[in-house]
Amino acid sequence: MDYSRKIAERQWNLPDKGELESRREATYIDDIIQKGHLQRKLLENLDGIKTVFDGGAGCGRFSILLAKQGCRVTHFDISQPMIDKAKELAEKENVLDQITFVRGALEDLRAYADRSFDLVISFDAPVSYTWPNQEKVIAELVRIARKRIMLSVSSRLGSLPYLANPIQKNQFFLDEQADDPFVRWCVENREKMIEGFRFDKAHAEQLWTDGLMGGEAEIAEYERGGAPWCITYTFLPDELERILAVNGVKNIRLSGPGAYGRTIPREILVKIMNDPQQRQDFLDFCYRFDSNPYVCGMGKDNLMAVGDIISEVPYHA
Ligand SMILES: C[S@@+](CC[C@H](N)C(=O)[O-])C[C@H]1O[C@@H](n2cnc3c(N)ncnc32)[C@H](O)[C@@H]1O
Repeated sequence: MDYSRKIAERQWNLPDKGELESRREATYIDDIIQKGHLQRKLLENLDGIKTVFDGGAGCGRFSILLAKQGCRVTHFDISQPMIDKAKELAEKENVLDQITFVRGALEDLRAYADRSFDLVISFDAPVSYTWPNQEKVIAELVRIARKRIMLSVSSRLGSLPYLANPIQKNQFFLDEQADDPFVRWCVENREKMIEGFRFDKAHAEQLWTDGLMGGEAEIAEYERGGAPWCITYTFLPDELERILAVNGVKNIRLSGPGAYGRTIPREILVKIMNDPQQRQDFLDFCYRFDSNPYVCGMGKDNLMAVGDIISEVPYHA
């Protein structure tokens, strides 16, 4: 088995994963903007959709939303803690019986027949954690989709600025005093991170060229018994478009959730978020700006693609 899959499996099965992930929008402004964008795109693309496969569905941010819209959803994920959290949240929302929970890896979708689901989604980078199999995984996700596919993957152009910003996450804390382990770590280590920072051109050139965040160091940590962050493959917009197109996806629309928000200082973002009217207007405008294909590469973390499956052979249910 590839190291990236083993590393992803260990990282996402850490016991507190489901709980921490389910609190993202209560903690980080970039997550509020990103979720708003993905959710809106999803709701705009549900015409004629009854069945959905959500690959790397996490704690159910979108599988539960889809079930509430009346869809029958297969919630597929490599992590038991994420699935457990999703079940708990689905029960609270009274949609448990509309969701089938499956623990599995995106690298193996052989259990699903061609064109099994009206819509296939995989949001917030699960595909990026399947390197070096990401192209095969996308082909498989397209294979099981009948009408539409929607993916959001890690963005290469969007990730490169992180290499010149060791405190990038601090910009997006809703509350600097929050009792969240990562917020606490970032606040406590802020000065140390700035002091110890040195721009590493070779590292930037390497990410630009091979698209990989992580590698040998993560493998070594895994071998020592640790749970490193996933080896992450970042995509360029034309690359993602090409992979979808060669697999027969048509009418591909790219977007970059978070491209507008990332240009704004924290003090201003917090002000906007704390005023309900400004917050709504801002999220509306972010969606408009981030949906412009010219900014799709500069999404904060994600590059999103929506495309249609136009089958030559009519499907008979
Ligand atoms: C950042 S979370 C996104 C979750 C969800 N799609 C969302 O947007 O809320 C990434 C998810 O991908 C899952 N994942 C990572 N690698 C995977 C793999 N190879 N196969 C299936 N799921 C995977 C993780 O367990 C995690 O739940």
